[in-house]
Amino acid sequence: MSEILLSQLAHVELFSPKPEETVAWLKDIFGLEETTREGQSVYLRGWAEWLHSSLIVTEAKESGVGRIGWRTYGAEDPETIAKRLQDSEEHVGWVDDWTGHGRTYQYRSAFGRHLHEVFWDVDLYEAPEDKKDHAVPNRPQKIPTNGGSAVRYLDHVTMPSANMKGDIEFYKKLGARHTAATEVEPGFSVFSTLTCNGIRSTHDIALVPDFSGVTGRAHHIAFRVDQRVDVERMAEIAVSHGTPIELGPGVHGIDEITYLYLREPGGFRMEVNSGGWVNSMPDWEPKTYQAAGGNPGQSIYRNVAMPESFYEAWPLPPKEAAEKEQEAVNSEQLADFFQQKPQGV
Ligand SMILES: [Fe+2]
Repeated sequence: MSEILLSQLAHVELFSPKPEETVAWLKDIFGLEETTREGQSVYLRGWAEWLHSSLIVTEAKESGVGRIGWRTYGAEDPETIAKRLQDSEEHVGWVDDWTGHGRTYQYRSAFGRHLHEVFWDVDLYEAPEDKKDHAVPNRPQKIPTNGGSAVRYLDHVTMPSANMKGDIEFYKKLGARHTAATEVEPGFSVFSTLTCNGIRSTHDIALVPDFSGVTGRAHHIAFRVDQRVDVERMAEIAVSHGTPIELGPGVHGIDEITYLYLREPGGFRMEVNSGGWVNSMPDWEPKTYQAAGGNPGQSIYRNVAMPESFYEAWPLPPKEAAEKEQEAVNSEQLADFFQQKPQGV
């Protein structure tokens, strides 16, 4: 019997040491819309998202990611997931009500220890009458007129894990499919993509290795735009408004998505992407890319070097852990990976 437990990545909570600047940037540059403010949190959503919110910006001492929320495929599924995890170290517990969704079961991933939550009942965004799109009723509101690059919906979250294989097996227990990996040498994976079995995106989770020993860290959050050209437009908007580009625009070999990586004012890495191949095969065997020779997983053209800053994840590790991480990044196995020369150079 087949089983579908999760329908979509519904929200991610972003911690920011500069919440006002972060929210202003997400609204001005990304085009996210504010739904509500409560306590230390601001709830935002992409213009075409039906759910109450997809990004929750919460004030914190350091950048990072908090709650990672999944809507289930049916009303009984949070209970099914809770039963599967309740006697394990991953079990956290139930929350009766949250802003934007109803009864919620929380758990942590096995090795990365990231905090996830699953729920069925959701609050939908209700546009005011003058914002409703009567011409295109499958949209919750009219398309914004202030720039076609405004992000449409939350796409994925990428997280470090000290045991990528272990976490892949953990996510598979809840129905995720492991779709692809990049290795720097056989058996040494530096990137993996997974998608939940509802299948909305090329991947909704990605994992990168953690060398610091610190758990619960995050690497980036990605939002989707409609067209590949919108990614390029976002890059132009970013540079003209003083936001430096960390990497891109380019095309990943893995999933074939057009990508752009920026840092928001709190320092966290945000991705905008478009295009790509949505893999709907339930019995898919993950494909492996070898990083040597220009890292085709990272760049389909093999002509782009990965900046060394790209190993940074948040919260930044304390001194000793940061030294341990830097040592790993400088190791022979990874030295070429982070400043990899394009093929033939
Ligand atoms: Fe990504």
